[in-house]
Amino acid sequence: MDEYGPRYFELNTGAMMPSVGFGTWRAPPDVIGDAVVAAVMAGYRHIDCASAYGNENEVGDALQRLFSTGKVKRSDLWITSKLWCSDHSPCDVPKALSKTLQALKLDYIDLYLMHWPIRTKPGSHRFEEGAILPLCIPETWNAMEGLYASGQARAIGVCNFSTKKLQDLLSFAKVPPAVNQVECHPVWQQTHLGNFCQSTGVHLSAFSPLGSPGSWMKGEVLKEPVLIEIAEELHKSPAQVALRWGIQSGHSVLPKSTNESRIKENIDLFSWCIPPDAFSRFAEIQQTRLLRGEFAVHPDGPYKSLEELWDGEI
Ligand code: A2P
Repeated sequence: MDEYGPRYFELNTGAMMPSVGFGTWRAPPDVIGDAVVAAVMAGYRHIDCASAYGNENEVGDALQRLFSTGKVKRSDLWITSKLWCSDHSPCDVPKALSKTLQALKLDYIDLYLMHWPIRTKPGSHRFEEGAILPLCIPETWNAMEGLYASGQARAIGVCNFSTKKLQDLLSFAKVPPAVNQVECHPVWQQTHLGNFCQSTGVHLSAFSPLGSPGSWMKGEVLKEPVLIEIAEELHKSPAQVALRWGIQSGHSVLPKSTNESRIKENIDLFSWCIPPDAFSRFAEIQQTRLLRGEFAVHPDGPYKSLEELWDGEI
């Protein structure tokens, strides 16, 4: 069978990151373990985690199950996690990674990302009244660089950074971010940010590559007529076409599912491709950001409007 890549993307650290990662956001703790095992058995070698997802302990238990049965070794897997906003104080950054490593039962992480360009009070959970603090991105990034130097994080990066925020970070970073993980799918293609990432050697990784149907994001990406038409022509599912569009655009994709047949479907992406004429039709799709981030906007916080949060990319 022909192989249509890429299976991996090379980061600016020289590491090869698998192009399809298994998403764990909104996966309930009681089912995530079996889903991770099913994903690895189906061929996923990349798992996207975050302390904020509240299920890293269960992901760690599943990894132990896989390692103890000899199905895979630690070195076969790429594990990403993320620093939550309440841990941005430089002294809290190493503590947060230690907690994550303890939960995942690992001694290093392949990629550690700043989850949002937002800082909240230590101990706060989300973005409740009074929790948002002034930004200290250079200080937080410097602490992330310390984790990279220690080898506990083999690559570091960010999430939810606009082009401008990424440009600012690149202007002072001693270690440039390897990845910017952002919302990206056929209905929010991130063309401008993607071009900037490509020109600066930062890899764009796509969260919610299916538009997170069923979540409060109210994504209807899989109902997009152009996607459905192309899927019918190629005899693939709309989800597969959305994911294949992502990797053909040069992005890693992080689909989440806790259903075994959809887990398998979402990695069945390498024996076919979207031909150029169909690929160009994605440009017809009307663009809408689904995760708009209203929660981060506050009259007393650093972002007084969505315009400021995304620096106009809205
Ligand atoms: P489920 O876990 O029941 O499979 P995203 O990765 O964009 O966040 O989207 C995740 C959502 O998409 C989940 O609700 C998941 O539900 C659903 N999903 C995952 N894979 C597919 C698929 N192949 N077809 C349709 N829905 C899917």
